[in-house]
Amino acid sequence: LKIILEEKKLNGKKILITAGPTQESIDPIRYITNHSSGKMGYALTKISKRMGAYVTLISGPTNIEKPYFIDEYIEIRTADEMYNEVVKRFKNFDIVIMTAAVADYTPVRKEDKKIKKANESLILELKRTKDILKEISRQRLKNQVIVGFAAETENIIEYGKEKLEKKQVNYIIANNASKVMGSNYSEVFLISKTQVLKFEGSKEYVAKKILDTISSNI
Ligand code: CTP
Ligand code: CA
Repeated sequence: LKIILEEKKLNGKKILITAGPTQESIDPIRYITNHSSGKMGYALTKISKRMGAYVTLISGPTNIEKPYFIDEYIEIRTADEMYNEVVKRFKNFDIVIMTAAVADYTPVRKEDKKIKKANESLILELKRTKDILKEISRQRLKNQVIVGFAAETENIIEYGKEKLEKKQVNYIIANNASKVMGSNYSEVFLISKTQVLKFEGSKEYVAKKILDTISSNI
């Protein structure tokens, strides 16, 4: 019985998770994206369900099958679509975990027709996308737990701490993206105002450690 209770620590909680990359169109056949596989977000989805939560997953394009056990599954493609889907529903959730690798820049113009190869060089003009995490943390309700990820390639903990402060979230999960992006393995630093914890192992193991820490502090 103790094991069952321990497992169901998220009973009655609603969790919103974002996962995967976004795709920003340049023309009808080309886009800008990143190496995010979605594995961490899908692992968090699976473990949250196992721990008893109601789970909504908003996912960018990945090669992972739609989880059959999920409560709500929304597919998006662009940073702008991700923004709309997250912002309109996040207030219904107790915990929001933003694993997605959202594009920071998107083409100023999406050409209607294929860009033909003409000159020796081509300049693509990009504009900033909206920061979803910053926006939801600004609009957050009392007692909502907001978790951001930080994909870094250097100064992992230092940059993670800066994001915790700048985005005013409860936790930042900082990782070395060049090491773990796309991999089944992960190594992260869970950063809050009061602690820095390191978890390493499979993405499911790391997801469990993250969710255990969050659930024991609510
Ligand atoms: N994020 C977001 N909206 C964006 C970009 C990022 O909500 N337009 C979220 C990501 O989902 C992640 C967190 O912000 O949870 C941190 O993403 P990251 O790319 O590490 O940080 P940025 O703030 O975008 O800063 P930079 O890329 O310059 O390091
Ligand atoms: Ca970014």
